[in-house]
Amino acid sequence: ILPKSVTIIEVGPRDGLQNNHNLVAENDKIEFIHLLQEAGIKEMEITSFVSPKWVPQMADAAQIVAKTRKIGRQFVLAPNEKGANLAREAHVDSIAVFVGVSNSFNKKNINRSTKESMDSLEPVIAKLKREQIFVRACISTAFYCPYEGKMKQDDVLAVCEQFVKMGVDELSVADTIGMANPLESYTLFTTLKEQFPTTLLTAHFHDTRKMALANIFAALQAGIDRFDTSAGGLGGCPFAPGATGNVATEDVVNMLDRLGIQTGVDIEKICEAVECIEKHVSQPIETGMYKLYKNK
Ligand code: HMG
Ligand code: MG
Repeated sequence: ILPKSVTIIEVGPRDGLQNNHNLVAENDKIEFIHLLQEAGIKEMEITSFVSPKWVPQMADAAQIVAKTRKIGRQFVLAPNEKGANLAREAHVDSIAVFVGVSNSFNKKNINRSTKESMDSLEPVIAKLKREQIFVRACISTAFYCPYEGKMKQDDVLAVCEQFVKMGVDELSVADTIGMANPLESYTLFTTLKEQFPTTLLTAHFHDTRKMALANIFAALQAGIDRFDTSAGGLGGCPFAPGATGNVATEDVVNMLDRLGIQTGVDIEKICEAVECIEKHVSQPIETGMYKLYKNK
């Protein structure tokens, strides 16, 4: 049985832009975020408090937080205590920490082993929860790693369990390099639903091999009703070679609309946001629904 409604967590302003070669101006990012809100998005990753040396595109994180309207949950990413403190100083109420199941990936992405990251995040998360901040944990390379290949499901579950014990509110489980197949999606998300019945569970698919919509359908059948998507299908992690964009918000909403599943998101207005950001990104945007919108 499929869910009656689904929550779309828009990650375009963060995942969508972090890997973009051109630096996008602060005002253009703010306009993009506001147009996405006007399209009905209630949860969004708007920026990251990460090292500007590692990810120059996110150097304006504090300004983005200060100058955007607060609608629903607006997440900022933080990889460590410094990022979490900068986010707290910016008065955010929702923070996303992130870690890779794969040690090799985590070292490339965060310059720490997976265990080092988990150990140092424990007191950070405890402090955030004392302050009643909503904590989302993003789990990268939950299916495949560009350096280590196929991940063991037990290792994925172990990381998720540690986060749940630390008190996170949500697990966002990611196919970082878009390699999972629908059976793998169904199997992992069914197991996650069984093991963590009281934690919000979200699926984050990159569309590198064009399997993301199929993987989302499989996750829907496993009972998942929260999906990270990116307007225009932008995205990719600078430290995961070969990873391309996230699954496109407009294409996911179209599939859900046609399945009779409510999202509260307006495809036409998402396409207006895509049109606004297209001028500032380094590659053309050619998602199914955006092409239809342009050719109308
Ligand atoms: P490091 O070089 O080991 O950091 O990098 P450090 O702790 O040794 O500190 C070095 C310098 O960085 C110091 O400054 C720190 O203050 C500063 P200095 O004394 O040299 O002037 N620093 C910071 N500055 C701003 N914000 C911070 C911060 N922390 C330290 N938070 C670090 C370690 C984690 C900082 C670095 O590796 C980093 O920034 N990595 C971020 C990588 C990233 O953003 N990746 C993309 C997001 S994850 C993703 O896309 C996956 C996801 O979409 C799911 C999926 O698809 O898989 C979520
Ligand atoms: Mg991602």
